[in-house]
Amino acid sequence: MAELTYRPWRDGDDLALLEIWGDPASPTDTQFRGALAPAADANPWRRTIVAEDQGIPVAAAVVYSTALHPQRLWAYVEVARDHRRAGVGATLLAMLRAEADAAVAAGLAGTTALRTKVAPGTAGAAFAGACGFKALQRSRLVVVGPGALTLPVFGDGSEEAATARIQDLATGSVELTDVVGRYYEAVHAWDPTGPLAPGTVQRLFLDDLTGAHGAIVLRAEPASAFGQAVAPSRPGRIQAFAISYSQGDPDVPSEVFLGVEPALAGEDAPAALRDLLALIAHQHPVRLELDDSAAAVAAVVEPLIAAGTATVRHETLVLGE
Ligand SMILES: CC(C)(COP(=O)(O)OP(=O)(O)OC[C@H]1O[C@@H](n2cnc3c(N)ncnc32)[C@H](O)[C@@H]1OP(=O)(O)O)[C@@H](O)C(=O)NCCC(=O)NCCS
Repeated sequence: MAELTYRPWRDGDDLALLEIWGDPASPTDTQFRGALAPAADANPWRRTIVAEDQGIPVAAAVVYSTALHPQRLWAYVEVARDHRRAGVGATLLAMLRAEADAAVAAGLAGTTALRTKVAPGTAGAAFAGACGFKALQRSRLVVVGPGALTLPVFGDGSEEAATARIQDLATGSVELTDVVGRYYEAVHAWDPTGPLAPGTVQRLFLDDLTGAHGAIVLRAEPASAFGQAVAPSRPGRIQAFAISYSQGDPDVPSEVFLGVEPALAGEDAPAALRDLLALIAHQHPVRLELDDSAAAVAAVVEPLIAAGTATVRHETLVLGE
């Protein structure tokens, strides 16, 4: 192999690289290929490097910031198959590190720590491990089959008792936005977000552009501030939520973001999630992303995976430093 030359990303590199690389090996690679783009100094900060072999692009690498998770920068490297195991990946990663160092010195980036995402058992996972990245998080795409959980019975089993606990909420709801934001913060302590403004939560998970078109919540039993003698006038607090991103095709599992009030203690959190999941996955399969850090969701879904009533479609690891 002749000596490679390295240069910044240029328009048209995506097509030239696609020809050499072929199809991406995983959904993660597809996502990262989309991040290969010209350098930018802000929103996000980004540097992209291309390696050429006799004028033909054969490898590329990108490093970029994210406002949501500011403690690390995303990094991705891809090398054409016939150029692998010759140190090109390691060279590109060292160049990304130098770009990050320079950006911190120039006040453009806030950190030099990197993270990446790979499928377990792949060349990418071995490479990241060899480069000193440690597993930060495992994430699995899980499909929960219909009827995997028995339907809950609320209170005396009446419709009234059920409607006091289960409610459809508009995705614009202030109460929903609040619990979704606090839940996301809580399950990302391993890659902290800092407090999320309601507008950010709306933009990420709830507004029309996210594809969210409905939410269902499980509420606590309504309780009156004046004790049992006085009928409660306000609904109980949200205990668990499910936001639906489904396209309405009954043959395709609906995509759901399932979460819980982070202040719920002990068994209460998985119990609330179990009831809500039983309802939404009663007749149709539901697809959700299960992060190991989402302990309450894992407590509900892991036994279903073990029993075969939920299946893992795809697994990724976030590795970082
Ligand atoms: C991961 C990838 C970029 C590695 O590129 P590369 O040019 O082959 O990497 P290098 O030659 O610099 O390898 C550096 C070290 O990583 C480790 N490594 C790389 N590929 C490996 C593999 N397939 N199996 C085991 N170890 C591997 C080795 O320790 C290697 O050192 P060595 O060759 O001296 O043993 C390449 O396989 C690729 O493009 N994969 C698809 C995209 C991807 O998964 N990227 C990972 C996200 S950063």
